[in-house]
Amino acid sequence: MLTGLKHLHHAGEYLVAVPLILVILSVAGARTKPGLAKVASRLHTFAFLMPARLVYIVGIAMMVMTGRSITEVFILVGLIGWVPVEIVSKRLVKAELAAVAQGGEASAKLTIGAVLELVLIAIIVVAMEHGH
Ligand code: HEM
Ligand code: HEM
Repeated sequence: MLTGLKHLHHAGEYLVAVPLILVILSVAGARTKPGLAKVASRLHTFAFLMPARLVYIVGIAMMVMTGRSITEVFILVGLIGWVPVEIVSKRLVKAELAAVAQGGEASAKLTIGAVLELVLIAIIVVAMEHGH
């Protein structure tokens, strides 16, 4: 059980790739092209937010099962670092992509949001790798 959860949680490393792809899509035209914005939106929800939330919950389960302390720095980075990702994903990435879907244009906020997501998730993954 724990081994399975560990593998699942470790797969969270790949999450770093998704905001990177979103940055590329945003400069490649997702700010104006509805088709590209739709691809970006699906990737953002189904390949980034949803699996990351699963990885997060599994991380808490692992912490409890292995008896690790919530005060360990890498765990705190994971727990707290996800909060700004949720905010950025809603206020910047989702909001801007929704504007494109409705026939408008996304501003530079889309690219900024994707870059922020990339930086935050990278900090979390690096903390996980060096902390435990
Ligand atoms: C979405 C956010 C998170 C991501 C992307 C993530 C990713 C990772 C990765 C890639 C590792 C493996 C590091 C390595 O062995 O090189 C790891 C380990 C670990 N993570 Fe996370 N993590 C996240 C959130 C959390 C949270 C919220 C907790 C606990 C509350 C947590 C607890 C742990 C623990 C205890 C380990 C060590 C597992 C072991 O002993 O092998 N993680 N995490
Ligand atoms: C099973 C896991 C989770 C699910 C299904 C989930 C789902 C959601 C959804 C649907 C929203 C609203 C987004 C929108 O309106 O577009 C949201 C917002 C938010 N979530 Fe989560 N979430 C999860 C885990 C978490 C965790 C673990 C945290 C904190 C560590 C978190 C923090 C937040 C915050 C702060 C917002 C508000 C963002 C804002 O209004 O700017 N969520 N979440």
